[in-house]
Amino acid sequence: MSNVKLPKYVGPKPTDRVLTREEVKARFDAETAEAYSQKDPVYLPEYAFALGLVVEALRAALPPSPRIFDLGAGTGNLSRRVLAGIPGSHVTLVDFSDNMLGGSKTVLADFTDRYDIVCEDFFQADFPAGSVDGVVSSFAIHHARGEEEYLSLYQKIRSWLAPQGVFACCDVIEGGNAGWTHVNEEGWKDHLRSVSFEEEQIDHIFANYHSEDTPISLPQHLTLLKQAGFASVDVLWKKYNFGVYCASSS
Ligand SMILES: C[S@@+](CC[C@H](N)C(=O)[O-])C[C@H]1O[C@@H](n2cnc3c(N)ncnc32)[C@H](O)[C@@H]1O
Repeated sequence: MSNVKLPKYVGPKPTDRVLTREEVKARFDAETAEAYSQKDPVYLPEYAFALGLVVEALRAALPPSPRIFDLGAGTGNLSRRVLAGIPGSHVTLVDFSDNMLGGSKTVLADFTDRYDIVCEDFFQADFPAGSVDGVVSSFAIHHARGEEEYLSLYQKIRSWLAPQGVFACCDVIEGGNAGWTHVNEEGWKDHLRSVSFEEEQIDHIFANYHSEDTPISLPQHLTLLKQAGFASVDVLWKKYNFGVYCASSS
């Protein structure tokens, strides 16, 4: 993999309808894993800070040498931060794209004996109850289609976690209503302009965003997490249409 930064990454050719699960998988199977292996992709505002908060949410609460799932781990950007930030941790990268997981060999080269890989759809996965201390995810859970699917995933995550377990996620989010979604999205557009994306490229990014991603609002996430049985929930950060939220089993 080259170390060339790809500041003008805009994604594949957009469609004008919401993609199916199979189409999302096909996209990541064809996507250059390299584009997702950037240490600090400029198209995402405060990326390093936000992913750092995911690690902090776990570090504050987990036992020594915790076991952690990274759902939709891709090339391992978040896993790398977890492994570097939580001594003795072991991360299982869960992703349905072999292509994306293939990039993790390079990204996680410093941590070879502290991670493993499961190539599986996390909406279908069936891990043993109480088998991990933490579950993290970045920019992947937004592929759930509708509240039912989010709830069902949160119920699974709750069951996979040990009694003191913590879930923390950084993702795109919807506004609480259409007006605030607009405000949020205009904020991201301004951010993209500030890092020198052209209007045509911004249109391309948004066309992809609206056909591939079906985010929900932070209040919806918190409600569903509570419904799934988590004892405490919180929002650690929000910027435009991006947020970091977390939930604890105890
Ligand atoms: C935008 S990438 C983010 C990758 C990584 N978490 C990061 O922050 O760089 C989304 C990842 O989620 C994976 N993904 C999407 N839906 C999934 C599903 N249902 N099951 C497993 N992996 C999924 C994709 O294959 C892709 O690697």
